[in-house]
Amino acid sequence: MSGSRFSLYENPQVSTAESPPQACADVLRPQDCARASAEIRSWPGYRATPLRSLPGLAGALGIGELLYKDESDRFGLGSFKALGGAYAVYRHLVRALAAADVPQPISVSDLMAARHADKVSRLTVACATDGNHGRSVAWGAKLFGCGCVIFLHPHVSDAREAAIASYGAQVVRTEGNYDDSVARAAEEARKNGWQVISDTSYPGYTQIPGEVMCGYTVMIDEIIDDRAGAPPPTHVFVQSGCGGLAAAVYAPLWRHYGVSRPQLVIVEPHNAACLYASGVAGSYVEVGGDLDTVMAGLSCGEPSLLAWPLVVAGTHYFMRIDDDTALATMRRLAAGERGDTPVVGGESGVAGLAGLLALVEDGDAARRLGLDERARVLVFGTEGDTDAQLYTRIVGESGDAVRARQ
Ligand SMILES: Cc1ncc(COP(=O)(O)O)c(C=O)c1O
Repeated sequence: MSGSRFSLYENPQVSTAESPPQACADVLRPQDCARASAEIRSWPGYRATPLRSLPGLAGALGIGELLYKDESDRFGLGSFKALGGAYAVYRHLVRALAAADVPQPISVSDLMAARHADKVSRLTVACATDGNHGRSVAWGAKLFGCGCVIFLHPHVSDAREAAIASYGAQVVRTEGNYDDSVARAAEEARKNGWQVISDTSYPGYTQIPGEVMCGYTVMIDEIIDDRAGAPPPTHVFVQSGCGGLAAAVYAPLWRHYGVSRPQLVIVEPHNAACLYASGVAGSYVEVGGDLDTVMAGLSCGEPSLLAWPLVVAGTHYFMRIDDDTALATMRRLAAGERGDTPVVGGESGVAGLAGLLALVEDGDAARRLGLDERARVLVFGTEGDTDAQLYTRIVGESGDAVRARQ
């Protein structure tokens, strides 16, 4: 099904089972998620992010409830990615120190107090990024005291580069698209003995991206705490690059709500819709091209190997949207509909909500998905004004000005 601004594909492979399929049992295991969550929630500066109810916008859309998990101030980094990369850096350093016979356990406080600085300072982590993941890895490396090299493809803005460099990471500009920068990071890391901390998984490389995904599940623990006693959401819209976020938020929702789990709609940019393409093909496929989109964090042509089995079993609808739909959503969110709190949502951050708005504008699609007054929709506002200048150009007002109206 296609509207003028979107394409929608109903996934015939969606599972009706009470819990995620056995084939995914090793991914996002409850005990690993619990360990990540307890660890991250003990870090200095930790605060649960707000789950905002937007009754004005819900009323305008004709749905019962709209919940927006606002990640724009996560650990002061501007996106949910703060939860994943930094946690994986910590786990890697603990393993490296254990291999060097340093007595366990090693806490974050030990690392932050530079207790093993002689060894940690000789280690380097590396990754390719669209911006937010690299910022998290660079932040983690700075907090824990190891070296860091971040690879950026040409579409990553100078402002995002500056944010990464501000944590002391070395930045390398690459050629080609995001996936080319991933290959370059892997090659340089192999040559130099660095550890790649990637948010996406590929053959032979699963442990670290699995830990990144476990870090993201903090958001679901917070949502479940916030919603104790409330009915489950009926729909969840999640924007995707490689699908790590979608798998990480949906696996615990599925386990928690069982057959009452919400319908999952995955939203991607038209130009970088690798999960949509895989859904239509019925199996894992990659998409090529320059993957250019204003939704920079979603510019990815290869699904994560770890995420895909969960995504194909859990997703009810795959959806693609154009850039203008995301931009209009940023402005609408910043304005604050019918008395709603104004919210700062970045280009990738609003994509799930943008998918919802596009479907509701198209009456047929909204009816098909049951987006009516009985719907309780959860969306993830995964980033704020991570590129402050670009945000101001798009919205016509700075993120600070919007926050001042909150
Ligand atoms: C702001 C934002 N939202 C969503 C995503 C999508 O996450 P994933 O690549 O795990 O699907 C990203 C990825 O970088 C992102 O930066």
